[in-house]
Amino acid sequence: MIAPSILSADFARLADEAAAVAGSDWLHVDVMDAHFVPNLTLGLPVVTSLRAATDIPLDCHLMIDDPDRWAVGYAEAGAHNVTVHAEAAEDPVAIAKDLRAAGALAGLSIKPGTPLEPHVEVLKHYDTLLVMSVEPGFGGQRFMVEVLDKVRAARRLVDTGHLKLILEIDGGINADTIEQAAEAGVDCFVAGSAVYDAEDPGRAVEALRALASAHTTHLR
Ligand code: DX5
Ligand code: ZN
Repeated sequence: MIAPSILSADFARLADEAAAVAGSDWLHVDVMDAHFVPNLTLGLPVVTSLRAATDIPLDCHLMIDDPDRWAVGYAEAGAHNVTVHAEAAEDPVAIAKDLRAAGALAGLSIKPGTPLEPHVEVLKHYDTLLVMSVEPGFGGQRFMVEVLDKVRAARRLVDTGHLKLILEIDGGINADTIEQAAEAGVDCFVAGSAVYDAEDPGRAVEALRALASAHTTHLR
């Protein structure tokens, strides 16, 4: 699965920018609050409008403090998957239950420096795991290959039946890095600058998908 990140799109033309990647599996929406991360992007009103403007399932990545309070609103607004950060969540199990009750998939994200192991029990309540491969906050950063060890560990937990998760990676994914991420066991690849800085974003999505699927070895 390929999830273009609209962080690298033209914010004044979001409906058109979504249409430009109509063949995508998910549309990745980065919500930043200038507290959890140093950057500020968009929030619930934009997600509500975007939901009405595209049929692509919305993948909301909440880089915000106090997701215990705010996350469920994104599910109620019709997001397909809502991801909160493990570093910010007070009660991640309760958040997951709220998200699912509101009809969304529940996602948990870990920053590059956050280990996987302490979160494995909590992940039994989640549908997706988003492994950050850059420090969250900005697009266009360099891929941190060392996070693939966490992807491999999560892949083993899924393949052995201990967890049931879609494994997602976010940050620095492009035609040069997607193959190693696919080999490590990623299911869903977020790509911002690699899609929206391309001449033809729709073709960039197709090219990334072809590379990922050629290098995926786990069963889907
Ligand atoms: C960064 C965001 C990413 C960002 C990725 O904090 O979570 O989704 O858009 O951008 P690229 O693909 O350019 O690294
Ligand atoms: Zn993101």
